[in-house]
Amino acid sequence: MRNGTSFGAPTRLENELAELIVSNNPFIEKIRFVSSGTEAVMSAIRLARGFTGRNKILKFEGCYHGHSDSLLVKAGSGLVTFGNTSSAGVPESFVNETIVVSLNNKKAVEEAFAQFNNQIACIIIEPIPANNGLLLQDKEYLQFLRDICAKNGTLLIFDEVISGFRVGFTGAAGHYNIKPDIITYGKIIGGGFPVGCYASSKEIMSNISPEGGVYQAGTLSGNPVAMSAGIAQLTECLKPNFYTELERKTNKLVAGLSEIKKNNFKLFSIGSIFWIAFTDKTKIQSAEEIDGESMKYFRDLYHPLLEKGVYLGPSGYEVGFMSEAHTEEDIDRTVAAFGELMK
Ligand SMILES: Cc1ncc(COP(=O)(O)O)c(C=O)c1O
Repeated sequence: MRNGTSFGAPTRLENELAELIVSNNPFIEKIRFVSSGTEAVMSAIRLARGFTGRNKILKFEGCYHGHSDSLLVKAGSGLVTFGNTSSAGVPESFVNETIVVSLNNKKAVEEAFAQFNNQIACIIIEPIPANNGLLLQDKEYLQFLRDICAKNGTLLIFDEVISGFRVGFTGAAGHYNIKPDIITYGKIIGGGFPVGCYASSKEIMSNISPEGGVYQAGTLSGNPVAMSAGIAQLTECLKPNFYTELERKTNKLVAGLSEIKKNNFKLFSIGSIFWIAFTDKTKIQSAEEIDGESMKYFRDLYHPLLEKGVYLGPSGYEVGFMSEAHTEEDIDRTVAAFGELMK
């Protein structure tokens, strides 16, 4: 901060952070920094539209991609629907460019391509959907999306604002070994300061201004404080065993909670992400499979847990994240608090 907090011009720190990411990630070659996850996704979609010359985008019910207009859209009632706006202030005309389908549903995606032949610029997905419960997809489904995009000249965008640098340094793309066309990252690469980025191959990124015709800029983008914090954060993430430790601690928490007698919940987890679902299903892979009624159990537990010093995300639809800072005692205390309340 002593070196300056904002210049409205590039600084060397952007190159340093970009180099740190790109040299450790085989899925991307170039990065553009912005100031939030919302901006990252909004810009990635503009890039996909500019690159393909198409307007429509396809997203999934239950995935959150920030608050830009064309993404504040929820599914209608059909298999393939133009969504309904999920926020006041979003024009119908924006919504009409967004197709919304269910997660884990091949038929809906195939039908969308049949119906909107040569019109879909991109499919955007959280490859590890973690904004509406943890709706883990099969690798085979993600591969299906990869293949159908390639076949139709549509770009595949992985929104890794949550999963990037969390399930491993190379995020979900690395975890599943599937190469999307564009990846978005956020939060983590700023070490707690406002940041986001979108990244892709040299070829696709060359479409962004000033090299290409897709405009995107921002006074605060690549902010030097966020870049410094990001370099510090990602340097920690690259240390040996960083991710195996996170996963070990997560597994310990998950095992501890699962063993509680008479529990009425299941834990779903991947890497350091976990979700407590009040269900007896062994898999939940789409938003419709979540029983809204079951959230009453979460509400029963939330405040008593808070009184015992355990602070969960404030909704049963929120996932939890294990942090490097969490200790073994934190985990034991959490399991004990759950155990006492479940009695
Ligand atoms: C997957 C995903 N994409 C995009 C966003 C938007 O990021 P931001 O809140 O930084 O604008 C979020 C925020 O939680 C997110 O989880």
